Amino acid sequence: VKKLNEIDVRGKKVFIRADLNVPQDDAGNITEDTRIRASIPSIQYCLDNGAAVMITSHLGRPTEGTVGPDDTLAPVAVRMGQLLHRPVRLIADWVEGGFEVKPGEVVLLENCRCNVGEKKNNEELAKKMAALCDVYVNDAFGTAHRAEATTHGIARFAPVACAGMLMGAEIDALSKALHAPKRPLVAIVGGSKVSSKLTILKSLADKVDQLIVGGGIANTFLLASGKRIGESLAEPELVKEAQAIMDMMKARGAEVPLPVDVVVADEVSALARANRISVDEVGPHDRILDVGPKTAAKLSEIIANAGTIVWNGPVGVFELPQFSGGTKMMASAIAHSEAFSIAGGGDTLAAIAKFHIAEDVGYISTGGGAFLEFLEGKTLPAIAALEERFSA
Ligand code: 3PG
Repeated sequence: VKKLNEIDVRGKKVFIRADLNVPQDDAGNITEDTRIRASIPSIQYCLDNGAAVMITSHLGRPTEGTVGPDDTLAPVAVRMGQLLHRPVRLIADWVEGGFEVKPGEVVLLENCRCNVGEKKNNEELAKKMAALCDVYVNDAFGTAHRAEATTHGIARFAPVACAGMLMGAEIDALSKALHAPKRPLVAIVGGSKVSSKLTILKSLADKVDQLIVGGGIANTFLLASGKRIGESLAEPELVKEAQAIMDMMKARGAEVPLPVDVVVADEVSALARANRISVDEVGPHDRILDVGPKTAAKLSEIIANAGTIVWNGPVGVFELPQFSGGTKMMASAIAHSEAFSIAGGGDTLAAIAKFHIAEDVGYISTGGGAFLEFLEGKTLPAIAALEERFSA
């Protein structure tokens, strides 16, 4: 794809699609601003180079045609202004134009998902938006898995279409890890359900040297390898799929290192009493809620020897202290590893914050669904649209 820093933006009207879909509390206060901060380098580049800058994003999943009180980007405009040290004007009705932006100025265009036709990638809407600018920049990696008018259609009609700095960094980091990794390549896929990560597991089983599974996913794999898991969360209907993944890995000399010891309790609660036992001692009423210390040590060793690490999902119920040991030890191993590591997904980001290792992870993706779809090996429509323009 063409990149923003290859383009002369001086005196040009630049339209940036960012992903500023940030979490807010009930009063509308932004509780986590990573995505706004991640959008700054592209905006700053455009401002420093004398462009007139328009930015838009979706926020939430509003009903098209109205901007409800929870839908407005007003709090985002305030935060962005603080980060850019200049006022950021919010433009309410912008699709038809009629507003002015001067070179060196930046405006935020209200929630693009409130425009009728955005989600269906309406061509008329995309053409109108394209007519507002000289250069279209897609910097919304977090929304790259959606083919909407601001992420896809507009890229076909704008005079120039390119990837912003964040989009470029995300594509580079993920491609490096998945398509040209330093080996061994180790993936950690945790979470509660195999079903929600089945495509990722299958796609990674083809590429990685070690596939560490955690949480409910590991339980289904334990079942597949003939272990008893008591009342642990698992999907018995996917045992065959888990078996096939293990067979596929084995056939090419790769492995799925399963837990040898586990932490169990009879309930998932803050008061639950945790027991560390061998995986062969799991009783009929036990629930596996974390990996045990022997397993954590083994996984840490694998991580220490890795060349590249891809991390999505915890290996235990890390929100509760008595079941956080495994995820904590893995986080620490990733932080100390020489490997290039990438991490993404809501739970993973929460674990990174909890164990204070953000500085030590090679690359933290701003994508949730987009990160997962990239791992699945899917072509993300927003990136495909930029590629098509580049090769045309
Ligand atoms: C996200 O938060 O994953 C992105 O902003 C995409 O949001 P969406 O799932 O509502 O399209």
